[in-house]
This record gives sequence, C-alpha cells and structure tokens, in this order.
Amino acid sequence: MEHFESKAIRGQIDQSQYREHSVPLYLTSSFTFENADQAVNLFADKEEGNIYSRYSNPNTTELIQKVCAMEGAEDGLATSSGMAAIFTSIAPFLSQGDHILVCRSVFGSTHQILTNIFPNWGIAHTYADIDKPETWEGLIQENTKMVFLETPSNPALDLIDLEWIGKLCKKHNILLNIDNCFATPYLQQPIKYGADIVMHSATKLMDGQGRVLGGLILGKKELIAKMRFFARHTGPAMSPFNAWVLSKSLETLAVRLDRHCDNALKLAHYLESHEQVEEVKYPFLESHPQYALAKKQMSQGGAIVSFTIKGGLERGKKFLNAIQNLSFTSNLGDSRTIVNHPASTTHCKLTEEERLAVGIYPGLIRVSVGLEHIEDIIKEIELSIQQSV
Ligand SMILES: Cc1ncc(COP(=O)(O)O)c(C=O)c1O
Repeated sequence: MEHFESKAIRGQIDQSQYREHSVPLYLTSSFTFENADQAVNLFADKEEGNIYSRYSNPNTTELIQKVCAMEGAEDGLATSSGMAAIFTSIAPFLSQGDHILVCRSVFGSTHQILTNIFPNWGIAHTYADIDKPETWEGLIQENTKMVFLETPSNPALDLIDLEWIGKLCKKHNILLNIDNCFATPYLQQPIKYGADIVMHSATKLMDGQGRVLGGLILGKKELIAKMRFFARHTGPAMSPFNAWVLSKSLETLAVRLDRHCDNALKLAHYLESHEQVEEVKYPFLESHPQYALAKKQMSQGGAIVSFTIKGGLERGKKFLNAIQNLSFTSNLGDSRTIVNHPASTTHCKLTEEERLAVGIYPGLIRVSVGLEHIEDIIKEIELSIQQSV
C-alpha cells in the first residue's frame, strides 16, 4: 500500500498456522532449530531467521519494518528506550580521538553521555548553537565523525534546516544523526534531506499513551548492520511485549497526530493573545521566527507548545501547583495533556546562563498537548494562569 496511514496499519508479519487477524505476541527468549544445519546457517548469517530475542524477535521485526516504511529507511533496529537508541546510534561510529558536533539544546541524558561518559573514552564533543547556523561549519574538525541534533528542539521548539545540514554533512563526509522524536515520521522525514541515521524515543508519541519505553533507529543498511552487531553483543534489545504494543500504537499515529497538532495550534493561538503570557513558541505559529522553515520541512507543527508566563521562576512553579485536571509529569507525547516547567525541573541543574542559551526562560512552560477536548485543555490552562497570579 502506498500511503503513510495504510503502511502503518497494514504492515504485519506473516500469519501463524492459527490464521489470527491481529498479530500474536511472541513472548519467547529463544527460538528452536529444526536441525544442526539450520543452526549453523543461522549463526553464520547464511540464513535469515530468529535465534534469540536479544538479536531479533517477530514482534520487533514487525515494528522495525513498519517504521522503515514510515521513515523511508532501508533498515532499522529497536531498542529498550530512546536513550538506548541514542547510545547505540552514536557509540559504534566513534573511537578514541574522535569528535562529535551536537546541537546545544539536546536532551539531558544525551548531554550526560557527551560530558560524563564519552570523555572517559577519549571522545570529544562541541556544542553548536541552534540559532547560529553560520558557525557550524567552523566547528567541524578533522576528527569529526558525526553531527547529532534534534529538530524541533526541546523545550524551546527551535528548528534546524534539514536540507542545509544534510548538505553540510555530505560536503564534509560526516554522518548525520537526527533525533526525530518531537516530529515523528508522520510530520517530518529527515532521510529525505540526507540524514544517515534517524532515531526516536518511541516512549513518546509513537506509543502515545504513556505505557512503554522504547527506542528506534533507522538508516542505511550498512550503518544499521554496524549498530546491530553492537546491540547484539551489548544487549539494549526491546522486549517483544513493548514492540507488540508499539506496533499497534502506530496504527493510530496519523489520526492521533492530526488531533494533537490541531489542539496544539488552537492552544498556541489562544495563548498568543493572552495578557499574562510573554511569548508563545509553536512551529506552525506565524510569529515563530522559523515559520517558513517549519512549513517547508514539517507537515504540521507537532504536539508541543512552549510559552513564557509573566512572573519568572516563582510564577512558573505557582502555575504548576495550580494545575488540576492536566498532568504534571516528566513524559510527553501522551493522549493526556502534560505540563512542565523546565527551569525548576528537567533543566534545574543547568546554570541560568546555560538555560538561556537554549531558550529556557525562567517562566517557560512546556505543554505536551493531548487529545482531550481543546475547550477543556484551554479552560484548565487558563485556570492555572489565573490562580498563579
Ligand atoms: C527528544 C528526546 N530524545 C530522547 C529521549 C530519551 O528517551 P527515553 O526516555 O525513551 O529513553 C527523550 C525523552 O524524553 C526525548 O525527549
């Protein structure tokens, strides 16, 4: 089938002898061999098939095939979490003495890998500012092996021009690795722009209901082969159960995302004219400084809206304390609307200067807009704004 929605729904592994309609859950750690020759061939990669669920499993295979079709990728890998996907998509390509260029507004645990783990192994990094693309080329070194970035960024929702960065990486023969978690393949497909690797925290919008952890890596066959070797022997495998849940979730990704994006845009418009709000960031708001770029590389603006409430850090905390029927939790991309105050929670360990460098103002509130009725979402946000004055 040709269209995104159909691929997400119809992508399924072969039926078993029971002729089930919905795919079964293959909860098994290993698979039996029909005879010694088959075992030899499977281990020697002369025959394709399952051996052990750390290597592959029918449920993870189905999920990978589906997401490959959605991202336009040659091959993929499923991991136990988004962080396992980030680590597995970087570590096999870097050795002692290598360097990686990373956008500054990267997810917190990625920052920890770069600053507290890789240096022990002699791997250096440089942060590049998302709002200064003219500086990036000068930050590339002879030993730079990879560029890693998120677009839209979290939580400031700034964008990087995928076509531009794709060309820059090609020019310097550097691998381009994109965290596509905020957009999902439904809204943005970085491989079209030259990304070599695309990874996801499937924990977020792909599951979409806050149930399971998962990670996905997509890319060129030879790159995935290298990561598969790494993963097979270091063990960040996704559980068959999580793969089964995620594959089912993807059947509704398009309809869920349509509603997420519709609600998010309506909330962004509402907040834009609010007298208690200093600034609203949403890629599909005309006031977003990169609106034209958002329209070029994303089909809709996504589920996340960030706004800066007047009154700074203390007002931000008061706003969260006033939240009643929305969720205050550190996840995002759920059917339930989630609010967060990055300056006092996820990004509290950064200095004020570091926070400002990635667009996190003291009063910035991140809303992961859910699937409740938009009038209820707006009413709850408005209530917290009023009660936090
Ligand atoms: C953009 C982004 N990348 C990666 C991760 C890590 O994913 P996980 O929590 O599934 O390990 C997150 C988690 O919040 C994220 O927001």
